[in-house]
Amino acid sequence: MENDCLKIIIREMTKDDVPQVSLIEKEAFGDHRWHEGAFYSELDNELSKYLVATLDDGSLVGFIGCWLIFEEAHIATFAISKKYQKKQIAQALICAFVDICYKEEIKYITLEVRESNTPAINLYEKFGMTSVGIRKNYYQDNNENAIIMFSENIFYNKFRAIYNNIKNNINKVNISYE
Ligand SMILES: CC(C)(COP(=O)(O)OP(=O)(O)OC[C@H]1O[C@@H](n2cnc3c(N)ncnc32)[C@H](O)[C@@H]1OP(=O)(O)O)[C@@H](O)C(=O)NCCC(=O)NCCS
Repeated sequence: MENDCLKIIIREMTKDDVPQVSLIEKEAFGDHRWHEGAFYSELDNELSKYLVATLDDGSLVGFIGCWLIFEEAHIATFAISKKYQKKQIAQALICAFVDICYKEEIKYITLEVRESNTPAINLYEKFGMTSVGIRKNYYQDNNENAIIMFSENIFYNKFRAIYNNIKNNINKVNISYE
């Protein structure tokens, strides 16, 4: 029987990835995006952790960037290439990122998301994250509010159950880690 699972490799981002990351970022965020230089600086920042998802042939299909500060991880930027959305790649990247948080003894995951970004809000809610407040007019391009979201303590059983359930149900992608 043919296996139509998409093969995805998740690994740390390198500076060689930045041009491809920038293309995905531009597609996702248009003019309101980071410039390449910001990614190069981030990769030199010891508080940053950046992961990419690639296909077998090395082409990049998504990335996640976070800052690890004391007991919190802040998701700073995150996107999946449009052609590869809705294939569970975002969930796979978050699971890989949560694994890093466990290793680094990070307790909470937080982020800001546009009020209108239903796909992202649904994704974070799937991981049990909830809204804890609003940053008024946070996004300068259209003055849109940001919703501040926080996870449960990821070491608590409630989060672990959600995380394990998602990990066990990722069936559209066959993930390997480098
Ligand atoms: C948000 C984003 C990262 C999701 O990536 P993805 O790989 O398509 O997501 P997944 O396939 O792993 O889906 C995970 C969950 O996200 C939610 N979701 C994803 N796409 C959705 C959509 N178009 N509409 C509603 N919910 C959606 C669902 O809850 C989904 O779970 P389900 O399949 O059980 O319904 C992607 O849409 C993206 O890159 N958007 C542009 C950039 C962006 O908004 N980044 C986040 C900034 S905070």
